[in-house]
Amino acid sequence: MKIAAKILTGIGAGLAGLGIRDVLQREHAVQRNYPVVGHLRYLLEDIRPEVQQYFIERNWDGRPYDRDVRSVIYQRAKGGLGEDPFGTELDVQAIGYEYLVHSVAPLDAPDDPPRPVVGGPDCTQPYAMALLNVSAMSFGALSANAVRALNGGAALGGFAHDTGEGGISDYHRENGGDLIWEIGSGYFGTRTDDGRFDPARFADKASDDQVKCVAVKLSQGAKPGVGGVLPAAKVTAEIAAARGVPVGVKCVSPAAHSAFSTPIELIEFIARLRELSGGKPVGFKLCVGSRVELLAIVKAMRTVGTAPDFIVVDGSEGGTGAAPLEFENSVGMPLTFGLMDVHNALVGAGLRDRVRVGASGKVSTGADIVKRLIQGADYTNAARAMMMAIGCIQAQRCHTNKCPTGVTTQSAWRQRALDVPTKTLRVRNYQQATVTEAMRIMAAMGVADPPALDPTMLRQNVSSHRSASYAELYDWLAPGELLDEAPAAWAGAWRSASPDTFAR
Ligand SMILES: Cc1cc2nc3c(=O)[nH]c(=O)nc-3n(C[C@H](O)[C@H](O)[C@H](O)COP(=O)(O)O)c2cc1C
Repeated sequence: MKIAAKILTGIGAGLAGLGIRDVLQREHAVQRNYPVVGHLRYLLEDIRPEVQQYFIERNWDGRPYDRDVRSVIYQRAKGGLGEDPFGTELDVQAIGYEYLVHSVAPLDAPDDPPRPVVGGPDCTQPYAMALLNVSAMSFGALSANAVRALNGGAALGGFAHDTGEGGISDYHRENGGDLIWEIGSGYFGTRTDDGRFDPARFADKASDDQVKCVAVKLSQGAKPGVGGVLPAAKVTAEIAAARGVPVGVKCVSPAAHSAFSTPIELIEFIARLRELSGGKPVGFKLCVGSRVELLAIVKAMRTVGTAPDFIVVDGSEGGTGAAPLEFENSVGMPLTFGLMDVHNALVGAGLRDRVRVGASGKVSTGADIVKRLIQGADYTNAARAMMMAIGCIQAQRCHTNKCPTGVTTQSAWRQRALDVPTKTLRVRNYQQATVTEAMRIMAAMGVADPPALDPTMLRQNVSSHRSASYAELYDWLAPGELLDEAPAAWAGAWRSASPDTFAR
């Protein structure tokens, strides 16, 4: 009996020691929040990777993030090479598989990645954008510590951090990383008491030097046409202050903007924001729905005589803190099609040289960046990959305020597990390593600069015995072609599009 008691005491003391160590360490958020039992996750992962798959993806029908991709994000965030052993596990002859075309005459990758300059002729404060940036995610959807780490990483690595539609909080300001200030239909942080756009508040905040660009959010790929919702439990005093809304009351942004209701009014609103901000780049973000609506906006640019400085295209495969399943799965255009439509519409209307195009939707590797550049983007943004860089394990509790890793919760206890200095470095590491790989791929393709990429360099298997390049698979408009004579595939939509109405 005495021996058994001693053994039990020894085990108890060991577990207590392990628990204390877990709470004090700063590397692993799950162990910090779940001392001792948190080890089970790692133990099971070591026994068999499929167990990790089960734990992480038990709610998914599909596979939003391939296990290898997620593992590479984690490795790169921790400063590792992000290399994968043994070879691809993909079926490289499957229909739909895509590959980039390398060259027998590869180049050396440049030391400094290029930075497309955002800012058309009406902009007086252009911004040199990185090839990969932090996509829009609000303080509210994200914890204060997550916002701090993302912004700190952006400051260290010299890339941009989009605030999301929840406004600019104190946590966005602590580290001084470059901000893209997003304005959604709720006009959070720049609204009147009745929820309308307030020009004076806007001018005041937009003049802050940390704000490098302003993005009007028209829609988001995971829930196009639905306003954002922040559950009442997440509307703390701090969030209410950043947004200019009451504490503890469900915070809803309307589906549509009240500041404009026609394509012409949208472009005039953008011009007004640019003026109020002192000439900073102003653009919009959307998930493309109908090509007619897109062309209506393009026609409005020509009618008003100005254009947004950038357009960010979000794909229907994009992420969210909370959205109805039906919208996530069944509404909106996938990024590949939306991106090429926006690029071609601007080329065809003779506007591409003054509007930069960003792309978001599961961008997580260097290959994703290169692929999107070929399809018409100038730069890319990532949301969920950045969340993984700060410790997200896809527990999918974002909407419950019970995120186990402290990324998407307002609970002070849970977010304490997210150690800001450690995760700040991880954001910087992940972005840097991913852009470096994009540059290495371009060099392997014999390309020194993104503008030299072309659609022959991306191929897709169209059957089990044939592949075709993007140059063959899709229409690529010539500069001004819509204005001269729209090609057959575009003629109907171009005719139907009116700058006076979004109706189609
Ligand atoms: C937690 C979370 C919150 C988001 N909040 C916003 C937002 O406030 N505004 C917005 O335009 N997009 C928002 N998004 C969408 C992302 O900015 C991005 O467009 C989309 O997730 C696609 O990128 P990803 O596939 O890299 O996640 C959010 C996404 C996530 C995961």
